[in-house]
Amino acid sequence: MAKKAQVTWGGRFTEGPAELMLRFSESVSFDHRLAPFDIAGSKAHAAMLAHAGLISAAERDAIHAGLDGIWREIESGKFVWDARLEDVHMNIEQALTRRTPAAAKLHTARSRNDQVATDMRLFFKHACAALGEKFLAVQRALLAVAGRERDVLIPAYTHLQRAQPVYLAHHLFAYLEMLQRDRDRLAGVAAQANFCPLGSGAVAGTTLPIDREFVAKQLGFVDARGRPQVTQNSMDAVGDRDLHIEFAAACALAGVHFSRVAEDLILWASAEFGFIRLPDAFSTGSSLMPQKKNPDSLELLRGKSARLQGNLQTLLTLAKGLPLTYNRDLQEDKPPVFDSFDQAGLCAEVLAATAAGLAFNHERCAAAVADPMLLATDLADYLVRKGVPFREAHHAVGALVRVAEHSAVRLDRLPFEEVCAVHPAFDRDWAGVFDLQRALARRTGTGMPGPAQLKRQFARWEKLLK
Ligand code: ARG
Repeated sequence: MAKKAQVTWGGRFTEGPAELMLRFSESVSFDHRLAPFDIAGSKAHAAMLAHAGLISAAERDAIHAGLDGIWREIESGKFVWDARLEDVHMNIEQALTRRTPAAAKLHTARSRNDQVATDMRLFFKHACAALGEKFLAVQRALLAVAGRERDVLIPAYTHLQRAQPVYLAHHLFAYLEMLQRDRDRLAGVAAQANFCPLGSGAVAGTTLPIDREFVAKQLGFVDARGRPQVTQNSMDAVGDRDLHIEFAAACALAGVHFSRVAEDLILWASAEFGFIRLPDAFSTGSSLMPQKKNPDSLELLRGKSARLQGNLQTLLTLAKGLPLTYNRDLQEDKPPVFDSFDQAGLCAEVLAATAAGLAFNHERCAAAVADPMLLATDLADYLVRKGVPFREAHHAVGALVRVAEHSAVRLDRLPFEEVCAVHPAFDRDWAGVFDLQRALARRTGTGMPGPAQLKRQFARWEKLLK
């Protein structure tokens, strides 16, 4: 079992780690994707060490050249990752050691604890921007559908029962609101990430004369005016995993939104609704039933949302009950974060592509929205305009609905005599309420589905999503 003592901390040890321990504790199989951030962090750190007089300019240049060479190897797939070196940090440091003796000075005034915290903050800034772009693409795809189907009306549902008529665009714009909040949340996570933890060391900083602001500036941890932003407590900086949790939460909530959109579309694509046809490219057939066309992309969006929630739960549980500060448990913080990033991005791409391929069945939408029951509330409002208290109006219209159902006559076709027998405030013009266009036109307030508001919302979204 005895192995050569581990290279980076070997001084204190007589025996190396067991093979099983190496397999158990390695993280390079997943944290290798931090390499671009790790190298950027190391280059900035080396620049700071030279600036502070802790290494020479020649040593800094040798480190920079070495790291650039290593990055080229990684990028071209030639770099050999070694699980015995545990993680991305030690793999790169070892490779640098083979290239320049100055490598031995790179870890001056730095620990893997503040190093990995820095790498992750750089990752989050990148990930939030990249995901934000993908969410924006979903919004644009949905806005394009709304634009194509501008005049289409459908029922809005509550309790999955037909409730009131809306423009399809109004329904789609509800998704745009959800996604806009998702993008805002990601921007919030990126803003939180924008503080440099380097200089926190393992837990209590360093005795060496470093310049934290210099390195923060090098790495772009700056405010809107270019002033460096650094973390304010070394213990918090190495032990904190809030960003991981907030990022996973933002992904989980976006996943829930995708899942709700998917569920609407699955319903709309069913024979029972028949509002839409899904694109073949994002559906599958059945191996048994030849007639089937299944909404698999949408079902998977629902399914992936469970996975995104699981990642959030993993991270919350991971951080709970850990004593300050860094504990090795925290190495497990990366797989769920990376998975959420990858899966939320994929979900966004699939939703955008599925939305772009939707075909609407205008006849089915028109037939569904022509249901006069959808305007029962408008009929109560009609009575209110005639001075009837709303509760009384609601009751009267309820009675009309009962009469219509009982006599199997459409609500809007009831004979006037029967209508005014239910309430004397009904006039001969009562059935004018069932004019859909007029009903929509009455909905003029902000946030309502009337045509004037819709026009405003189109303009607003076109501007916001440009
Ligand atoms: N791979 C480690 C992680 O991600 C790096 C930090 C190791 N720190 C330590 N004190 N062993 O957690």
